[in-house]
Amino acid sequence: MTTTFQNKKIIVAGGSSGIGLAAATQFANQQAQVTVTGRNADKLNEAKQAGLQTAAIDSTNREALDTFFKNQGPIDHLVISLSGSKGIGNFAELSLQVLREGFEEKFFTNLNTIQAALPYINAGGSITLVTAISATAQMPGTSGLGAINGSLEIMVPVLAKEFAGIRINAVSPGVVDTSWWDFLPEQNKQETFKQYATNIPVGRVGKPDEVANVILFLAGNEYMTGKVVGCDGGMA
Ligand SMILES: NC(=O)c1ccc[n+]([C@@H]2O[C@H](COP(=O)([O-])OP(=O)(O)OC[C@H]3O[C@@H](n4cnc5c(N)ncnc54)[C@H](OP(=O)(O)O)[C@@H]3O)[C@@H](O)[C@H]2O)c1
Repeated sequence: MTTTFQNKKIIVAGGSSGIGLAAATQFANQQAQVTVTGRNADKLNEAKQAGLQTAAIDSTNREALDTFFKNQGPIDHLVISLSGSKGIGNFAELSLQVLREGFEEKFFTNLNTIQAALPYINAGGSITLVTAISATAQMPGTSGLGAINGSLEIMVPVLAKEFAGIRINAVSPGVVDTSWWDFLPEQNKQETFKQYATNIPVGRVGKPDEVANVILFLAGNEYMTGKVVGCDGGMA
């Protein structure tokens, strides 16, 4: 069976868990050659056991990224699912130093990865970012996270025009059950998800595979570029 991604070379930055891992697995199920990156050796090992190629890279390290993409050579699709969580809280009490760190861990890691990969993405290829509902949700306590994700979302249509032969889009998830929430003890996490579910039209938080479906759609559809697509169960 021939599929959209068969034999395509795909890098998923932040693909060792959560949404990135789900996308990497779906690409691999379509016979793509997928490499996932991350920092934690145990998570990378699990991804390797699941049949994915892995690379230990800290995406805050631009030099390491430049070397990695140079060694990879031409690629077809890049997905960036690097997590960041710093910058949450009501603005009056928000530490601007912590917010700066939040920009470093998500905004600048995304930009580092795009710039390092760009020379190696084949014409007709694509970049898909994973932003967040905080960019548009207008919820108290999310101005910092919203600024980080909104900054990325604002860039998407501009970069689509600059990159021309290479498409770029973003998926903007709502609340998704991944290890992003592991800062909460399991019971609190489940209670938090239940609370969110009361404001989500589909009545539950999302699954990584549901967001991954949108990533594969954006990477595979040759008429999609410059767009931010929500995947949030109707929460926004
Ligand atoms: N889960 C949600 O509810 C939710 C909602 C909206 C948006 N999002 C966004 O979705 C994206 C993916 O998050 P997720 O929920 O799938 O979280 P996750 O399960 O924690 O996955 C994050 C991935 O990024 C990697 N990573 C983080 N920082 C890195 C760095 N500096 N260098 C290399 N790899 C790095 C992690 O591996 P290592 O830790 O080993 O480095 C892991 O593979 C994030 O951008 C997040 O903001 C998530």
